[in-house]
Amino acid sequence: MRKQIAAANWKMNLTYQQGTALLQTLVSAEIKLKENHVAVFAVPFPYLEMAIDTVHHKYNYFISAQNCSDKKSGAFTGEVSAEMLKSLNVTYCLVGHSERREYFREGNQMLAEKINLCLANEITPIFCCGEALQTRDIDQQNTFVEQQLRESLFHLSEEALLKIVIAYEPIWAIGTGKTASTEQAQEMHAHIRSVLQNQYGAPAAEQISILYGGSVKANNARELFASKDVDGGLVGGASLIATEFIEIIKALK
Ligand code: PGA
Repeated sequence: MRKQIAAANWKMNLTYQQGTALLQTLVSAEIKLKENHVAVFAVPFPYLEMAIDTVHHKYNYFISAQNCSDKKSGAFTGEVSAEMLKSLNVTYCLVGHSERREYFREGNQMLAEKINLCLANEITPIFCCGEALQTRDIDQQNTFVEQQLRESLFHLSEEALLKIVIAYEPIWAIGTGKTASTEQAQEMHAHIRSVLQNQYGAPAAEQISILYGGSVKANNARELFASKDVDGGLVGGASLIATEFIEIIKALK
């Protein structure tokens, strides 16, 4: 059964004290996760160890980094390697969030390197893809996303691909309060699955969790997650508010 995942992306928000308090509230909340339900928290690097300590006793709660270097190790001041993340027991890592692509010029090739390093260090990459508004306006979103998948993932063996989570995040819906409609999300998720199916076959494509991201809130999560090919969400703003994120976790199908 495919994993259904509620992933929090804190981005560059919250002090250490605020982050600790938020995680403690979430850990003590009464939430019964099913076997295939997972809650993931992508926290800033300096909070990883605290976050792992705080959630480690909680069933199916895991910690993610928000990024990692595309280099293995060496003279890259300020960078954090996948191997370092592994040495802290980090389970997941976001790769290719649109903010990294846009503000830090991360391209599909570089992201392929990050994916390889995550997998080599037994970290599950959450690979983010998604189109800008201009691309959707000219109805090129399907080809655009297909190219992102092709250039960053298609060098992988089937076995490696099965270790990946995909997050579809239309850039026009991130932090804007504009959510893709349930139909738009389902349509793109089905497209992503068919692209994977063409390359790797149906059994592999059926096993990959595809999350939706972009203004997911407590009041729209249930409807979005109900779609056949939407396996949970990657949540920015609403993941900073305990009551919101608790409802989002509870909305997993
Ligand atoms: P948002 O961010 O929920 O604030 O739109 C989502 C994301 O960027 O992962």
